[in-house]
Amino acid sequence: MIGKLNHVAIAVRDIKKAVGIYRDILGATVSAAVPQPEHGVTTVFVALPNTKIELLEPLGADSPITKFLDRNPDGGIHHVCYEVNDIRAASDALKSTGARVLGDGEPKTGAHGKPVLFLHPKDFCGTLVELEQA
Ligand code: CO
Repeated sequence: MIGKLNHVAIAVRDIKKAVGIYRDILGATVSAAVPQPEHGVTTVFVALPNTKIELLEPLGADSPITKFLDRNPDGGIHHVCYEVNDIRAASDALKSTGARVLGDGEPKTGAHGKPVLFLHPKDFCGTLVELEQA
């Protein structure tokens, strides 16, 4: 069912500092920072030859990553995103196994303008999983 690793998301308190680490120390190509008020985060993409790293900084008072950063003050891996060919079919197949799809279970438009779903970390080895329509 799952295909390519689309990205690994890392939550950070200070995205400028994180950009400095990835661009200036690790020598990667990074995008501009894009505020995404509808998702409660500012994002930067780090382009790697085989995948991307998504840097996430909280935006606004109810950012979905605030609690994560309270538990992980130095930042950390927040989720992994796998591509699927048919997100509705994937959602239905996963639900039939008892896996929990977060929210109302309907795909939402994600940070890259494609339909995404998030799966409960307790059902997936303690890792928040994002599925993105390929
Ligand atoms: Co993501």
